[in-house]
Amino acid sequence: MIHVNNLHKHFGDSHVLRGISCDIQPREVVCIIGPSGSGKSTLLRCMNALEQVNEGEVTVNGFALHDRRSNLNAMRESVGMVFQRFNLFPHMTVLENLIMAPLSLNKMSRSEAIALADTLLDKVGLNDKRDAWPSSLSGGQQQRVAIARALAMHPSIMLFDEPTSALDPELVGEVLAVMKTLAEEGMTMVIVTHEMGFAREVADRVIFIDQGIIQEQGTPEQIFSAPTNPRTAAFLSKVL
Ligand SMILES: Nc1ncnc2c1ncn2[C@@H]1O[C@H](COP(=O)(O)OP(=O)(O)O)[C@@H](O)[C@H]1O
Ligand SMILES: [Mg+2]
Repeated sequence: MIHVNNLHKHFGDSHVLRGISCDIQPREVVCIIGPSGSGKSTLLRCMNALEQVNEGEVTVNGFALHDRRSNLNAMRESVGMVFQRFNLFPHMTVLENLIMAPLSLNKMSRSEAIALADTLLDKVGLNDKRDAWPSSLSGGQQQRVAIARALAMHPSIMLFDEPTSALDPELVGEVLAVMKTLAEEGMTMVIVTHEMGFAREVADRVIFIDQGIIQEQGTPEQIFSAPTNPRTAAFLSKVL
């Protein structure tokens, strides 16, 4: 579903992604780990055309993002993204946050959008917060709303950029539980995370990035129990 080939990304003089190649298969759950500043967010943003590709190819759901002629809006509708900061619209209730994009893009009627929103709020365990304002919710609840909002577009791929790192520790679990359910339902997911326990349990594959290069990838078992690259081992020794 995602094909990345020899991707390079520069910001001014800094060469942030230095020849990344990876493929994401349908229904695969891939966790990306690595030190701060290694290029994880930039890679994820390149997969959603939030950053322009300088060199190489990124194809997502058949859309060639490196090609200026591609319809990026159509691509983005098929890819849900969840950020560290929940970015809910503060002046809209939970329900309004969920129906806004489907309605403004004419994806469905108002009654269909509301029915879907109710289903999704059930799924993330927040049907009692339907009419609440985002500011009245905990960070974990807001992030679950953000996940539901992304799902309201019926994405075929979900990208997560450190979805739990802005949360108080006791709220991390409820968000990871929603993500785990999604994974079990067969959603294709790429997740940048520092939650190694989650990666170990849920990922089909773990990619370790350092200095803009995929240093190592493999099953969670391989990466966490028997890393072959000394950089991976050094990183894990700090975070595990
Ligand atoms: N918009 C930007 N402009 C300039 N430099 C950037 C920009 N975004 C990221 N960078 C730089 O690119 C490098 C990788 O950043 P990032 O992808 O956010 O790393 P990570 O998510 O692994 O912490 C960092 O050195 C960061 O400062
Ligand atoms: Mg980042």
